[in-house]
Amino acid sequence: MKRLASGWKVSGIAVGFVPTMGYLHAGHISLVHNARQRVGSKGQVVVSIYVNPTQFGPTEDLAKYPRDLAHDKKLCREAGVDVLFVPSNAQMYPEGYSTYVIEEHLSQAMEGASRPTHFRGVTTVVSKLFNLVLPDVAVFGAKDFQQAAIIQRMTRDLNFPVKVVVAPTVREPDGLALSSRNKYLSPIQREQAVILRQSLQHARNAVAGGPVQATRLLDEVGKRIATASEARLDYVEFFNPKTLEPATVVKRGTQMALAVFLGKTRLIDNATL
Ligand code: PAJ
Repeated sequence: MKRLASGWKVSGIAVGFVPTMGYLHAGHISLVHNARQRVGSKGQVVVSIYVNPTQFGPTEDLAKYPRDLAHDKKLCREAGVDVLFVPSNAQMYPEGYSTYVIEEHLSQAMEGASRPTHFRGVTTVVSKLFNLVLPDVAVFGAKDFQQAAIIQRMTRDLNFPVKVVVAPTVREPDGLALSSRNKYLSPIQREQAVILRQSLQHARNAVAGGPVQATRLLDEVGKRIATASEARLDYVEFFNPKTLEPATVVKRGTQMALAVFLGKTRLIDNATL
């Protein structure tokens, strides 16, 4: 990968990059198309597939994270990906590996609070992937809003010569955000998973009439989620989309994010209200 990427640099070929953990779906593929648009037909589009162990907590789903490399290859080929980069654990974290990249501010709340070592793993692996692929543009999904914000901050803070693009969330017809983890849902859980989107919609409708106290919205969303038998709220947060600072008064333009367990499966979603 390094050899390829250095060759492209020397020849002045633009490189677009979409890092993933595989089990690809239309959300990932929308990022591929976005990257292609940005680098053009003469550019190179690289997708990485790597289920990164350092971003999973000790009790999380690393071992059973869904994998289907044959199908991923087919989707990448159809989408016109030039290079599929699938490194192994031994290549990414060889014996004696001991260096990590930590963003110390934006990664404290929300996903970072629920999954304490998660973003340290994400920033570390994305730094390594940037150094290997040498992209001009890297495309991330707004579905993982906090992750995208942290990658933008890291890229700026560490002077990576990469333009970070954040692309919109692709959804099922009923509004559920596409996610590799949707595969875990039972039919009832799948039906109830629309509660995430409905909660975002509820808040959006509420603030359309004017500013609302965050505590009131929290209460309303909590009650709504309690009506779904399989659902358990992990967190709901209202915050400034630029700084991720919590908002006590929620209005149009405030960002809302939530994480909900459906059975054992934890789903996240977010929207600008
Ligand atoms: P993964 O969950 O595979 O997601 C890869 C990229 O696809 C992320 O940028 C994510 O935000 C985006 N994505 C996921 N679902 C989407 C949807 N429904 N619509 C649009 N984009 C979507 O996020 C990761 O992997 C990892 O943390 C990674 C960045 C690869 C580092 O290991």
